Amino acid sequence: MTGRVQSHQKTSEARRASSDAGSIWHPLTQHQSLLHNPPEQIVEADGCYLQAKNGKTYLDGVSGIWCVNVGYGRKEIATAASEQMQRLSYLNPTMTHETGLALTRKLLEMVDMQGRVFLSSSGSEANEVALKVAWQYHAQSGEPSGHQRYKIISRYRAYHGNTLGALSATGQAERKIGYGVGAPGFVHIPPPYQYRASQALTPTSHGLECAKILEDTIIYEGPQTIAAFIMEPIISGGGVLIPPDEYLPAVRTVCNKYGVLLILDEVVSGFGRTGKMFGYEHWGVKPDIFTFGKGIASGYMPLAATLVRQEIFDAFLSENNDMAHFRHINTYGAHPVAAAVALKNIEILENEYLVENSKRQGMYMMRQMDELNEHPYVGEIRGRGLVAGVELVSDKDSRAPLSSDKVGDVIDGCRRRGVILMRNSNTVPDFSNVVITAPPLIAGEAEIDQIVSTLKTSLVEIL
Ligand SMILES: Cc1ncc(COP(=O)(O)O)c(C=O)c1O
Repeated sequence: MTGRVQSHQKTSEARRASSDAGSIWHPLTQHQSLLHNPPEQIVEADGCYLQAKNGKTYLDGVSGIWCVNVGYGRKEIATAASEQMQRLSYLNPTMTHETGLALTRKLLEMVDMQGRVFLSSSGSEANEVALKVAWQYHAQSGEPSGHQRYKIISRYRAYHGNTLGALSATGQAERKIGYGVGAPGFVHIPPPYQYRASQALTPTSHGLECAKILEDTIIYEGPQTIAAFIMEPIISGGGVLIPPDEYLPAVRTVCNKYGVLLILDEVVSGFGRTGKMFGYEHWGVKPDIFTFGKGIASGYMPLAATLVRQEIFDAFLSENNDMAHFRHINTYGAHPVAAAVALKNIEILENEYLVENSKRQGMYMMRQMDELNEHPYVGEIRGRGLVAGVELVSDKDSRAPLSSDKVGDVIDGCRRRGVILMRNSNTVPDFSNVVITAPPLIAGEAEIDQIVSTLKTSLVEIL
């Protein structure tokens, strides 16, 4: 058989595979692998559980993609959306509506910040806004002539989104390989990662060392070229990396010293995920710019927000420069229905004390997970609130990451047993070895027990 015929056969096989699996091109999915195993359809969801067409029930141990914070099937959110849709279904985002005003006021109040909120539809866009605001702010806020702050510093392993700027800030090689060179001016530094740092360092000295790397990088690159440093309070999709307590305060000091804006990407950590309403609260350090997404509307509508301090917003005010305003728009920005949904979602988070539940159940989850440490492949378990990562290694002494296939077997085993977990796939080459759980913030001990026992059984199975 000629290579051409073989390749034709392979192509038709692949076509058949994709028609078996339906017409959707899924993200992060090798569709060839669906040839004999078409994905099952999910038909409805309630609370923490998904119902498949074939009758099977799944505990969604990752809240969609850590976004369904208040759980599925909330009638009151559907009602809020329906009422808003009937009153004002859409508005050009250059115009003002009551729901948008109420939401933006609420967000500023929640982080106790004077400033402005730019609403968009995804975490990637919120970060894109943050980057553009940082560039333009510096250009318009009296930097000495000849200096241009255009560089953005971010961290390896972090994820900030799939649009060009946010992807360039992302520090995960596998999300970028093959997609061009990215935007220029992005510099990456390592995050605190105690498990893989020199064991001679205490958490404190490691945290301070990582903040020092930020300072050194700013100095080496030239402070007058650095616009912003963007970071997640806790690296989430990159493997649940929690910084030592000294890190964020030291980062804030460094940013202040060199006039670098600090952007906190709270797309995952915001709205209760880590046991506080926002991730920054663990360290009491406020950024210059916040970005929110996911839990802001619990996935009931696409919504994201970029909050900037008043002083930053003021740099965009001018009577004589007709290019001084923020020249950025997205059709669905400040969508009234998404805003109504977010307001109701936040009301639920507050009224049902779901942030407190996240903290309490998160502590319970860490206690229950402790026994997993006895498993020969469990290197480290990290968690805060209702997000936890179990880092799997093939050898506890060398800490060599467990192979991607074996980690995949654990995820598959959990799924077969009715629990959906995920891992940090396609992030850092050879390090897809962190199994992640982040159940809805309504989860109770029964759900946590189901997650932990299923994970345990699936880990034992791969020995
Ligand atoms: C920390 C973080 N920032 C930004 C994003 C991008 O958000 P979206 O997928 O809504 O564009 C994500 C998505 O997972 C994320 O985890």
